[in-house]
Amino acid sequence: MSRITVFSGSGLSAGAGLATFRGPNGLWRQRDPMTLATPEAWRADPQLVTEFYNERRALAWNAQPTEAHLALARLETRFDVQIITQNVDDLHERAGSSKVTHLHGVLDRVRSTQDASHKRWMRGQPVDLDEQAPDGGQWRPDVVWFGEPVLGFTEAETAMAAADKVLVVGTSLTVQPAASLLTLAADKATKVIINADPVTLNAGFELIVGQADDCLPPLVTQWLS
Ligand code: OAD
Repeated sequence: MSRITVFSGSGLSAGAGLATFRGPNGLWRQRDPMTLATPEAWRADPQLVTEFYNERRALAWNAQPTEAHLALARLETRFDVQIITQNVDDLHERAGSSKVTHLHGVLDRVRSTQDASHKRWMRGQPVDLDEQAPDGGQWRPDVVWFGEPVLGFTEAETAMAAADKVLVVGTSLTVQPAASLLTLAADKATKVIINADPVTLNAGFELIVGQADDCLPPLVTQWLS
């Protein structure tokens, strides 16, 4: 079976009403990530960080997969598809994609600050900092903050190098090491980027400028036919 590796970013979920990071209404345009998304920020003000993630968790829980998420899931009818996402929402899974690696963690899950193997699914609900984990730790978002190692990177590298087709969607390709994965795509692979704004292109990639919900379903239909 031919292999497709998808690399997605927040622009894919923009159609579901979830904010991107660096666009005109992007989260990091309005808030300083250094006060919300670093281990230092958590130590300085866990209440502020918790509230930020509680808000985002509720929004993501109430969002629905878009036409683009659903189209990506349809690829599995004919291809071996590995999704590598920078997104912390679960819209790929809810659309039906079965192999999803979350490089930057999962918004709906929290983990203990003492023993990270203590995890809890929130089902969209807010974390109450007065509630402790079973080991006495605090519940922190199970996401990757700036300065922390990304998750599943070796698996992502393998999937990128092995892909017959690489499809990149909705990412500014500015955050490392995630964006560096594109350099691993094989010369002979078909390589396409769909993004609302132009991005700096890696060698061999074709850029389709447009909204994911408009541009991705027709490409999937073409690949499935
Ligand atoms: P960015 O906000 O940097 O980039 C989103 C990209 O999506 C932009 O280039 C937009 O042009 C594009 N876009 C917006 N709406 C779109 C649409 N409807 N269809 C297609 N493209 C659209 O977000 P990411 O690249 O995802 O990390 O950011 C990467 C990482 O930076 C995030 O995972 C997060 C952030 O800091 C952490 O929190 C660790």
